[in-house]
Amino acid sequence: MPDHTFRVNGEQVTVDVADDVRLLWVLRDILGITGPKYGCGINVCKACTSHLNGEAFNPCAVPVGDLGPDDEITTIEGLPATVGRDLHPMQRAWLDHDVAQCGYCQPGQIMAAVALVRRVQSEGRAVTDADLDSLRNICRCGTYPRIRAAISAAATDG
Ligand code: FES
Ligand code: FES
Repeated sequence: MPDHTFRVNGEQVTVDVADDVRLLWVLRDILGITGPKYGCGINVCKACTSHLNGEAFNPCAVPVGDLGPDDEITTIEGLPATVGRDLHPMQRAWLDHDVAQCGYCQPGQIMAAVALVRRVQSEGRAVTDADLDSLRNICRCGTYPRIRAAISAAATDG
């Protein structure tokens, strides 16, 4: 099988796996990085949301063969290091607002929220209700009001 080299949470990794194996299974089953959750496997539930070169993406929908050596994957495990703290401000806001219920969707929710705030702030504007409505991460526990409150707080606190 071919080797694939890319970066995950600041480290270069090489995996020996077929080109069409999707990245979520490479992360979870080969690399042991289980923060990105398996929900649907077909790019619908968003439980696996992580970052590819700083933007939100869903590794269940990306074949590992699409990645190159310069591609940087960030999962929830690597998020605090992106700001050099023990917790990313979004994770702090999540705790402050007691967002999580069962927790299953929460890594994906946080990764989607971080990417959203980053994009909105790069556009020099505040997070709007329409921005929050655009998030498509499913939460079967219905934590949406607390998710929205936490994102708004984190965006305001910078
Ligand atoms: S597991 Fe990736 S979107 Fe559902
Ligand atoms: S907290 Fe349970 S699915 Fe979202």
